[in-house]
Amino acid sequence: MLRELADNFRPVAPPRIFEGAYSEDQYRRLTKVVRENGPWQLILAENFERPEEVIATTSGELPEGVELTWDMLLTNPVFRGYLARQGVCFYPELEDCYYSSRFLEMARSYWGARYAEPETYLFNIQGPTPIGGPPHLDGTVFRGMTMENTPLWLLLTMAKSCLFRRWQAKKCQVIAWYYKGRIGGGFNCWPDGPSGDPFQIQAPMWGRAVVVENEMMFHHGQACGPVAMRQHRGLDIKSTIEPDPDAEGGWRIVTGDVVNQRIPEQEVRFLVHWGARVFMDFDELKVTLDHKDDISPERAVEILIDDMRKRGIEVPTPTDPMNDPALVRLVARVYDIGGPANIPADAIDEVAA
Ligand SMILES: [Fe+2]
Repeated sequence: MLRELADNFRPVAPPRIFEGAYSEDQYRRLTKVVRENGPWQLILAENFERPEEVIATTSGELPEGVELTWDMLLTNPVFRGYLARQGVCFYPELEDCYYSSRFLEMARSYWGARYAEPETYLFNIQGPTPIGGPPHLDGTVFRGMTMENTPLWLLLTMAKSCLFRRWQAKKCQVIAWYYKGRIGGGFNCWPDGPSGDPFQIQAPMWGRAVVVENEMMFHHGQACGPVAMRQHRGLDIKSTIEPDPDAEGGWRIVTGDVVNQRIPEQEVRFLVHWGARVFMDFDELKVTLDHKDDISPERAVEILIDDMRKRGIEVPTPTDPMNDPALVRLVARVYDIGGPANIPADAIDEVAA
């Protein structure tokens, strides 16, 4: 366990909060796209089909005799949809939001960088939920290594090991929230590293946004909504969220033919995540686009194995490193960097009242 590595996780600059992320007209178009193009899947459904797979990627092991069900895992139903990918905005009516000169300038200024390009655009939508797990870092990519040619475990390990900063993409996000609820629903982050004080952005918020580097800053969403509405039963990985036809502005969670929960407009938490890649100068842009200094998965594994051996850990040389469960388990254990322990208490109804 290399807990001291966690202290390296500090963003390039403190979070920059601002109001009015989108104009009223942009917000209206965003919500129109989201209401007209659902239903939307659970975030968990992007990566997992069976509950056992979730457990395999976290550290947990099930007690003997316990059969895992989605009910045990789906206590925090957050749904997601994508609005763009790389250079392509999926909805022409949102192009001014995605290719926003204002956001691009914020990303450049946050980094002191010369260039920025929009790279990701997605939203999360949820009703009342408990806290979404421990603080985390967003996944990142490296020059030459992305989800397209590298398993997720290796990208995550590379980031946590701090050995690959030379190749790591420089990124910036503008995250905006629309949440009228009065209980929780804000954002906690650790800009001074996980042993520093948490910084909280509190709800209610309507177009409040923050400029951040979430690959290098531990963060998570707060629990939100009335406690009694945070209980979820009967969900599975195919549960979706869709506009509630019986309630203006409301949403409902549906599993097959069953409506699990109706969420009134007041309790809907809507997050819009805009992400850009930045390049400090023309040289960095050229090195990246011309692939002059890429790293390969094979080289990355060599570097990790070297590092572990230098730390006195015995590592057998793998014959097929991309498909070696023992290696995956080993790096998960060695590069377990932990995270913040000083997590603010959840907002509950009584406090808000
Ligand atoms: Fe995140």
